Amino acid sequence: MADSTLAPALRADDDSFLEFEGTTPYEDYVHASVLASLQQPLTRAPAEMGFLVTAQVMELWFTLTVHEWCAARAALREDDHVGAMDALHRSIGVLHALNDSFRPIASLTPAQFNGFRAAFGKASGFQSAKYRRLEFLLGDASRSMVQPHRGHPAVHAELEEALTQPSLYDEVLGYLYRRGLPVPEHVRERDVTVAYEPDAGVEEVWRRIYAGPQHDPLVELGEALTDIAELVLRWRGAHLMATRRAMGAKTGSGGSPGVAWLEKRAVRPVFPELWTARGHV
Ligand code: HEM
Repeated sequence: MADSTLAPALRADDDSFLEFEGTTPYEDYVHASVLASLQQPLTRAPAEMGFLVTAQVMELWFTLTVHEWCAARAALREDDHVGAMDALHRSIGVLHALNDSFRPIASLTPAQFNGFRAAFGKASGFQSAKYRRLEFLLGDASRSMVQPHRGHPAVHAELEEALTQPSLYDEVLGYLYRRGLPVPEHVRERDVTVAYEPDAGVEEVWRRIYAGPQHDPLVELGEALTDIAELVLRWRGAHLMATRRAMGAKTGSGGSPGVAWLEKRAVRPVFPELWTARGHV
């Protein structure tokens, strides 16, 4: 049924809302035609467009996740609890959208995937620089993961820079320390260019927080981080399942053993002590 409040406006004598000097303000802001120019499938396979668009959409969600986590990290550095919580909550919304984005390709059959797989050659999400930044922010820094990007100086420089920055989790732990919690010195002074290792002292910090009043702002911070960890693990699980359905135990296009490799990657802990501390509360 037509919307009676909008319809008269659309029939108005003044049709200035249909006339623009150049491109529409929407185009100028959203760059929709630039986005639409980026879908260039390599085959006529019916499922390829969905695969390509899904990968591009996920790249955008990775970008937004990185943006929000950098905002949260900057806020924590300033001891701005509210600003950090706002950014973390926005990122939780993004991660839900990211995970829902698997739908179009979640159940590709091997024959459907084979219809375009050879065409993209050695391309693999493993080479996604934004995903790598996202993992660095979680605390999973790795110099060797920067290497594939040597041929793209701007991206390489961005990743190199990211590698030297404390992760979101490092900033959380620094913040907890300034709030009076006994985060060990070797954790606060750790080499941030290598992956974070679980620590008994940090587990005790979270245990203390969780054993206290449940509406304490630090419990709320812990819960936002737990939501994030769970959603990242869910992304990995959904990716693994889609891969298993589409290609079984075949070797990955990026050169890994495929599913066997992803199974190991999928279970790497995110914010480990937030999980282990629960067993001691
Ligand atoms: C059915 C579709 C897909 C299949 C069969 C698949 C398969 C694989 C495989 C086998 C790997 C391991 C590396 C390799 O040897 O290539 C991998 C890694 C990866 N894929 Fe996918 N993938 C699919 C969809 C996607 C999509 C849509 C994205 C989003 C951009 C994506 C992002 C990634 C990322 C980020 C990694 C690296 C994971 C890590 O480093 O732990 N994949 N994929």
